[in-house]
Amino acid sequence: MKNFSEELEKRIKWVESVIEEFLPNEDTKQKIVMEAMNYSVRAGGKRLRPLLLSEMSEMFGMDKENVKPFMAVMEYIHTYSLVHDDLPAMDNDEYRRGRKTTHKQFGEAIGILAGDALLNYAFETGINAILTFEYPKRAVAALAVIASKSGIYGMIGGQTVDIISEGKQLDKDTLDYINELKTGALIEASMMAGAILAGADEEEIFTIERAASKIGQAFQIQDDVLDVISTTKELGKPVHSDEKNCKSTYVNLMDVEKAKDEVKRLSDEAVLELKSLKRENQFLFKLIEWLINRTK
Ligand code: IPE
Ligand code: IPE
Ligand code: MG
Ligand code: MG
Ligand code: MG
Repeated sequence: MKNFSEELEKRIKWVESVIEEFLPNEDTKQKIVMEAMNYSVRAGGKRLRPLLLSEMSEMFGMDKENVKPFMAVMEYIHTYSLVHDDLPAMDNDEYRRGRKTTHKQFGEAIGILAGDALLNYAFETGINAILTFEYPKRAVAALAVIASKSGIYGMIGGQTVDIISEGKQLDKDTLDYINELKTGALIEASMMAGAILAGADEEEIFTIERAASKIGQAFQIQDDVLDVISTTKELGKPVHSDEKNCKSTYVNLMDVEKAKDEVKRLSDEAVLELKSLKRENQFLFKLIEWLINRTK
């Protein structure tokens, strides 16, 4: 790969166009909720989850064009999780992806509804895609993984333990549990779904799940580091949100340097696991390395 950042930019542009393609139109009496959904999705962000899904499907030999609706599904679920994460009852944050959070822009009721709407709309998009996907059983299996990784045993479960743990100094095991679920689960879903759609076997999927869990944990630890060392301008969201909400993180469990070491260790382990699959995707390996030192 000659120039990773150029390649990344090119691929993200394509992911952006895919996410845009499936968004609802706004021309109804309830258009305010569509406007709020589209506002939060169009705000930008790294688009990591749909990118991981498409890269995994390519790794297992499928043309990325075929998995487009499933990429949109992942970004809509992820965006809903952020819209709700920012609500006053949760992290109470005012900026996201460089603009006002959805509830700040549209009011709390529409903020809640827009999150609900994105989650439901994600599954509308995914279920419709089963009908046109060449391998309907794979599509159902991929959506089943996405549903469960988003739910009480996945992202919602992790967000729950995160919220009820505010104000407590957590031990490493509990913190790992939270990170695996609140952030790891959607990364796992993205990578597993991409591979399932492309026909990977059970053992391969299991390896991918383990690798993705490590990538997800590393990703959350880096997010916690950036919350302390970065700026609101760079991140597009408030810094020191964790301190404000008395959250336990790796940064207060150890220190920034040790937390960064953990990010590198987990990412290296994940790359080794993925390489054991004996499938080529140099871009994917570079992407995981790039995440270790990401600045936003
Ligand atoms: C933020 O996710 C929430 C976490 C799970 C850490 P991202 O950092 O992927 O947010 P966007 O999509 O780039 O805005
Ligand atoms: C949230 O973690 C992870 C989600 C499932 C949304 P954070 O609360 O640290 O995410 P940010 O920092 O607000 O993006
Ligand atoms: Mg949170
Ligand atoms: Mg938050
Ligand atoms: Mg954070």
